Amino acid sequence: MDPLKDVADCRDLEFLRQNGARADFPLLQNEDLVFLDSGASAQKPQVVLDALTDFYRTGYANIHRGVYRLSQQATELYEGARGKIQRFLGAAESSEIVFVRGATEGLNLLAHSFVRPRVQPGDEILITQMEHHSNIVPWQMLGQETGAVLKYVPLTGTGELDLAALPELLTDRTRVLAVTHVSNALGTINPVAEIIRLAREKGVPVIVDGAQAVPHLAVDVQALDCDFYVFSGHKLYGPTGIGAVYGKAEHWRAMPPWQGGGDMILSVTMEQTTYAEPPACFEAGTPDIAGAIGLGAAIDYVQGLGLANITAYEQELLAAGTEILGAVPGLRVIGTAADKAAVFSFVLEGVHPHDVGTFLDGDNIAVRTGHHCAQPIMDYFGIPATTRASLGVYNTAADLEALAESLLRIRKFFRV
Ligand code: ALA
Repeated sequence: MDPLKDVADCRDLEFLRQNGARADFPLLQNEDLVFLDSGASAQKPQVVLDALTDFYRTGYANIHRGVYRLSQQATELYEGARGKIQRFLGAAESSEIVFVRGATEGLNLLAHSFVRPRVQPGDEILITQMEHHSNIVPWQMLGQETGAVLKYVPLTGTGELDLAALPELLTDRTRVLAVTHVSNALGTINPVAEIIRLAREKGVPVIVDGAQAVPHLAVDVQALDCDFYVFSGHKLYGPTGIGAVYGKAEHWRAMPPWQGGGDMILSVTMEQTTYAEPPACFEAGTPDIAGAIGLGAAIDYVQGLGLANITAYEQELLAAGTEILGAVPGLRVIGTAADKAAVFSFVLEGVHPHDVGTFLDGDNIAVRTGHHCAQPIMDYFGIPATTRASLGVYNTAADLEALAESLLRIRKFFRV
């Protein structure tokens, strides 16, 4: 695959229906493994592994610094990956994309450089009770530092946001709204376009955490009209340690940098520094060059499958899994939103989720158990933890049947 080109030849829904995309993933050639933990991190297709090793074997050099060809070619690949992300998210300019280590680092960057300069004691930061800790803790830290108050849009029993509460929570002291596009713990797909519209009416900028959305849905940041959109590469079949933040150009231009160092400056004297233009001024130091190129390859990969095909296929798996798991007595799904991604977070009556996870592992079924870094959701539902099966393009209904069979054996074992 040419790492500088976007993939044009889409495979179709029928291709996915045959056997998912499992054949593309070397680790999944172990036929016994049922991998149901893509929400934590997705497996990597051969094309991503190839992009990484090809770069290290034949194209490696530092970027933005060398006059020699190898360095210039590496720069072209790195900036090419930025362009792929721009087109993937529908951003207007590639300079609106800043590389970071992942969604967590992106949210911390925004807390520091976008929100901190605009908050005074008593100002409000609005998030939701559905957020991952990465979209809670940076705001709590900022609140402690500045005296800003953190407010939450509440949940409903189906694991959706109570949007009736939103207009009143958007006050003239609200300085930002940060909301997840898709819940990692529940699978709920939030109506972010509507949420952004309501926030816009009150002049409140919106940050969207898209870490759990981009592997499953097509995203268009200009159509959404969000101010920022963050995501991680590793959930999108890309490498770990790389992610991106989209931001409107006018915001990046007005924001102070957050880390100082090489590659983010125009000039440095012993007295002072003049910063480079965005995005460079937000990418201090040598970045994860190979990671960015690998992420570009992952984007080519999902675009080759077609985001619409992925969404349609995973919705079929969601419907199949709802029926298959519905036949397991004592199983209660937590998060039953009308619009959700292929995530099954559940409790099994009489068996602790950690025991469920350990037993499933004995059957070579990988799931995540625990609070999923979303403890306020667990508090809302009055449970300490769930077992979560989160699906990706390589899963099939047979994986869900294997899960259900194993759960039935667990019930027998624990005599529940
Ligand atoms: N945020 C990841 C998850 O949901 C790690 O599992």
